[in-house]
Amino acid sequence: MNNDAHIQADYLPLLWESTIAFLYSEDYAEHLIEFLKDKKISTVLDCACGIGFPSIQVSKAGFDVICSDGYADMLERFQKNCQDAGVTIPVKHLTWSQLYTLYRTFDIVLCRGNSIIYVDSWTHVLDPSIETVLNHIRFSLQKMYCLLNEGGFLYVDISSSREYAAGPRIHEDFGERVFDGEKVHLTWDITHDWDKRVRAVKSLRTIDGIAYTHEYSGFLLKHEELVEILTDVGFEKVEKIALPGERLYDVYIAYK
Ligand SMILES: C[S@@+](CC[C@H](N)C(=O)[O-])C[C@H]1O[C@@H](n2cnc3c(N)ncnc32)[C@H](O)[C@@H]1O
Repeated sequence: MNNDAHIQADYLPLLWESTIAFLYSEDYAEHLIEFLKDKKISTVLDCACGIGFPSIQVSKAGFDVICSDGYADMLERFQKNCQDAGVTIPVKHLTWSQLYTLYRTFDIVLCRGNSIIYVDSWTHVLDPSIETVLNHIRFSLQKMYCLLNEGGFLYVDISSSREYAAGPRIHEDFGERVFDGEKVHLTWDITHDWDKRVRAVKSLRTIDGIAYTHEYSGFLLKHEELVEILTDVGFEKVEKIALPGERLYDVYIAYK
């Protein structure tokens, strides 16, 4: 293994899982669950469920949860994590454009973890034009709107305004942690290219002294664009909320 190995796409589930361990402690899921209880939520769709964070915790808390994700590799890890946690969550392999095939509605749809900006680039370099990506985001949010009960709402988050203000180059050192019995050190170098509208992340993990890099890119979505699109696709009200335990992304709640 060389010191600057590029991780393949099928490594994304493990990469994301070890990253989550740095970004969140248990209190995020606890506050989310409190928020769902407060809003009298019963049915939940996590349409970017990834490896199962935080849906496994939400399911364990007694909510009726269904999960979906567009990428099979993520879902494989999701199944393993559900098994390890002793929970059974119905899961579908669906991109956001295919969500209508669920043929049912929910009290809340979760699209968290800065997922929406990867609509065109989770497993490959962001390529389509700015207009195309914005259309895909609009189309995806529209599908999520259709899956909500009247009075239901969407939870969607994006890179924080704090991050945008600190750009265009940000270095984040998340420190060291033991993950799967190994000492891991994580840093991110984030670059904002506002001309091309690309947010590039170079993730560097040092595991027992060996460095692994992974580079990925998402769309630099402006907060006002997100709010405008949510309003355009039919949401009555959109508000930014502060959720304790969430320090990287800004959370928007859009009410149907
Ligand atoms: C950054 S991860 C976040 C995962 C999880 N929500 C979390 O908070 O840990 C982004 C997720 O969005 C999914 N995703 C990206 N584009 C998608 C699309 N067009 N349709 C469905 N899922 C998509 C990826 O497979 C990945 O699991």
